[in-house]
This record gives sequence, structure tokens and C-alpha cells, in this order.
Amino acid sequence: MSRQYQLFATTPKGLELLLVDELRALGAKDPREKLAGVSFQGDLTLAYKACLWSRLANRILLSLASVPADTPDELYRGVQSIAWDEHIDAKATLAVHFVSSNSNITHTLFGAQKVKDAIVDQLREKYGVRPSVAKEEPDVSVYVYLQRDVAAISIDLSGESLHKRGYRLSQVTAPLKENLAAAILKRCNWENIAKDNGTLMDPMCGSGTLLIEGALMAADIAPGIMREYFGFLGWKQHQPALWRKLWDEANARREAGIARLPQIIGYDEDAEAIKSAFENIERAGLRGKIHVEKRDLFEFTPMTKLQPGLVVTNPPYGERLGEVEEIKPLYTDLGNRLKLAFTGWKAGVITGNPDLGKQMGLRSKKQYAFFNGAIPSQLLLFDVEPQNFVDRSPEADNARRVRAAQRAVSESQQAAIEMFANRIKKNLKHIARQAKREGKTSYRIYDADLPDYAFAIDVDGDKIYVREYEAPKNIDIKKVERRRQEVLAVLPELLSVDPGVIYFEVISE
Ligand SMILES: C[S@@+](CC[C@H](N)C(=O)[O-])C[C@H]1O[C@@H](n2cnc3c(N)ncnc32)[C@H](O)[C@@H]1O
Repeated sequence: MSRQYQLFATTPKGLELLLVDELRALGAKDPREKLAGVSFQGDLTLAYKACLWSRLANRILLSLASVPADTPDELYRGVQSIAWDEHIDAKATLAVHFVSSNSNITHTLFGAQKVKDAIVDQLREKYGVRPSVAKEEPDVSVYVYLQRDVAAISIDLSGESLHKRGYRLSQVTAPLKENLAAAILKRCNWENIAKDNGTLMDPMCGSGTLLIEGALMAADIAPGIMREYFGFLGWKQHQPALWRKLWDEANARREAGIARLPQIIGYDEDAEAIKSAFENIERAGLRGKIHVEKRDLFEFTPMTKLQPGLVVTNPPYGERLGEVEEIKPLYTDLGNRLKLAFTGWKAGVITGNPDLGKQMGLRSKKQYAFFNGAIPSQLLLFDVEPQNFVDRSPEADNARRVRAAQRAVSESQQAAIEMFANRIKKNLKHIARQAKREGKTSYRIYDADLPDYAFAIDVDGDKIYVREYEAPKNIDIKKVERRRQEVLAVLPELLSVDPGVIYFEVISE
């Protein structure tokens, strides 16, 4: 049996479970979910495959040892207990990446220096020459994760984060990381939609990350195939023939896959974004396979003869205060476009603000939480079907408000507002009758007649306007809300009207 290694794949928080599945499918043994990573075992073939094929991992680490590292000297001794000549040629270049959490050694540059000293001292003693340090693309990259004064020491086989596929040199503001885009597409079930030849569309595609990752997935293209650098290329145990074989296999799969790509289309209102998407598509070797075009969201419709599929998008978030309000209509627009022209499609929308998602007027079937960089975000999944359309008309809002009030008001409270109800009934008898006699269709049926119920209620044709006088600051807000719910709950029956015609607002005197 070929040599087995203990491996660890790092990933952004929230993607661990997807990564467990991905690594298992690649052949990983015993993949286990950890915080921001997955531990697993496998041989060198598997380690190479993880570097070449993982769409979700940041780094693939080959674990060497865990050593106690309370002090710098202890760290030095621990690093020296590893036989570095098995991994690093004395004439090679080297970089050390040091991460510290909850430990005595907090200074990461100092920690990295200590680790480097231990390695080069050992090799110099043995060979008389020592590796030199290279920050960019070193032959071997050593990764140390110090947690609670225990240092986990690994070789970073990826060398540089795998989300850097090599196609994205140009970018617009707020692009999604490539591995996050891949995770979003997996959550949207894009792999299966693509198998059925479904279309992929992103109406706000920016630099095209979702479109390109979608194409790589659908065409069975290894995300690492465009990379020229990996951390294992200069590692002493690297097996070039094995790597070449895996790369050639991936290349053959790419050629077969690219011939059967479904339609992939992106729009953005910003010409610069489209230019950068175009350049990225070209660099990814997907020219002619993804269509991008400058187009505003209000022109977003599927061209005729498109196979229904997936609309996936990452609209602006409105991170700064005040921006959220400005951006709300964009989400309403997106919802309207989907409802109007994409029935039968699936949709996935990434947003940093749940309130924005609600503006779409579509009931989501699933929500996933993850981090887009430091921003806690949500992926909302939709089946664009009429039964999931939420009516955002004022009448629908009125009816929802009344129904919520009726749910909140219990039977016992209903009894408590009998006084209010009796007053309305009494007023109606006189005022409504008189209005009828005079041929009036607009009249006031109640005006804060009872001090506890500070409302003005007007009939205007077949509409009812309930205006609540703003309560003084010293009144308990809970009490104000309860009165409001009581009134809204009983009015439809008292006035024999549909809840949808009861408009409500708070007015300050
Ligand atoms: C957060 S960025 C998308 C980033 C993209 N996912 C990437 O990885 O590059 C949001 C994009 O929405 C576009 N956008 C905003 N309003 C739009 C509108 N009304 N119509 C079309 N695109 C719009 C912006 O130009 C921007 O490129």
C-alpha cells in the first residue's frame, strides 16, 4: 500500500461540511469537520488531487508533527525534531507561514523566524549549505499553526491559497472569492441543474466569478488546472510523473466537458465590470462559452429558447449606513424580474442583509449562513413558482398587518376592548346613517373618543384609514402596540370589510 499521509484542508468558516463531501468524493479517508477546515488521510495521489480538484479548500496541508511550544526555545527544539532533509533540499528556497491563537508566542513574524532558524540550522549542520528564504513562490512552504501553545507543523502543498485559480487578475469592487462562489453554486444544486442542461444566469455578474466557477463545474474542469505554482513542486518527495498523469487526466476531462457546456450568461450595468468579466473568462480558457453583456437589471429577461435553469447573483449589499434604504428597490426589481420572466427556474441570492432579501417578494425555501470575507451573509434559495410569490401590494401589506394583529390578540383581550367596539358600533349607527342620508362617501367614524384608544378612523369610499396619534414618550410602548393590535384585529368584523382595505399609519400631532 502506498504511503499514507495525515492531511488537513483549510476553508472559509461555514464551508466545512461541503468540503467533507468534496474530499470524500475525491477519495479522502476519514474526512472530519473541524473549525475552518477538514482533517483527512490519504496517499500522495489524493493529496495532489485535492490541490488540483478542490473547489472549496484554501490550502492543503501535509501534517508533519505537533510539538509543545510554550516558549521560543521549546518551539525551536520541536521543529528540530523533524527530519527536514526528507522534505527540503539544502539548496532550495523556503517560506514559513505562522499563525498563532491563544498562545504565549503571539508575534507571528518572530514565530516564523524561530521556525525558519530551526530548519536551516539543522540542514546546514548536515550539508554545510542552507536553504534561503523566498517570500514569493518558495520551493517549500512550511505552515505552522500554534494553538494553546501546541504547534502543528505542516508542509503547505498548495503553497498559495487555492482560491487563486489564476484566471482572475482583473476585478471590480467586492468580488466573491472563487471558492465561496463555488460553494454558493453547490448549495444552489448547480451541478445537477447543469447535468440537465439548465441555463446559468447572473444579472449582476461583476467580474464574472459565479459564471466562471459555474462553467468550471459544469464542464468538469479542475479549478487548479490553470495554476502554474503549487507548494509541492519544489518539495523533496514530489513525484513529477504522478502529478503529470493527474494533470493530463484533468486536461482530458476538461476537453470532453467543455464541449457540453450549458448556456451561461451574465449582465452588469457597469461597463468596467463587463470588461473585467470578459478578460477573466478569456484567461479561464472559456472564451465563447460564457456570454457577458452590459445590461441593466430592468432589462433582465431570459432570451427566448433558453432552457430554464438557475439565476444566481450577488447584488450590492449596502454596507454603509443609509445605503440599505437606497438599495431596497434593486432587490424589489430583482424579485419582480424573476416573478415576471423566470417561472420554473431556481434562484440563489447572496445578501449581507436579511431585510434586503425580504424586498424581493419571494418566499425562500432555504437559507444558508456564511461569511463573505468578514461580512456575515446569507444565501437565499428560491423556487420561482407562483405559490412562492409574496404579494408586496399595499393591500396585501394591510391584510398581513391585520392577520398578525388578530394572531397577537387573545380572546381575553378581545373582551377587554368591548368598550372600543361598542363605541364604534354606536358611532356607526349615527354617523354612517347620516352620511348616507347626505350622500357622503368620506366621513370620520371615530376620533380618540376613548382616551385609551388614541386613533382617528376614517371611511373613504371602500377604504378605511386608521391613524394612530403618536403616543407621548412616557407611555409604555408595549401598551401602545397592544392597543394598535386590538383595534386592527376587530375592525374588519365591526366594519364588515376585507382586511386588505384597512390602511394604517402613525401620525404626530
Ligand atoms: C457585489 S458586485 C458582484 C460581484 C461579483 N459576484 C464578482 O464576484 O465579481 C455587484 C454588482 O452589481 C452590479 N449592479 C448594481 N446595480 C445594478 C443594476 N441595476 N443592474 C445591473 N447590475 C447592477 C454592480 O455594477 C456590481 O458589479
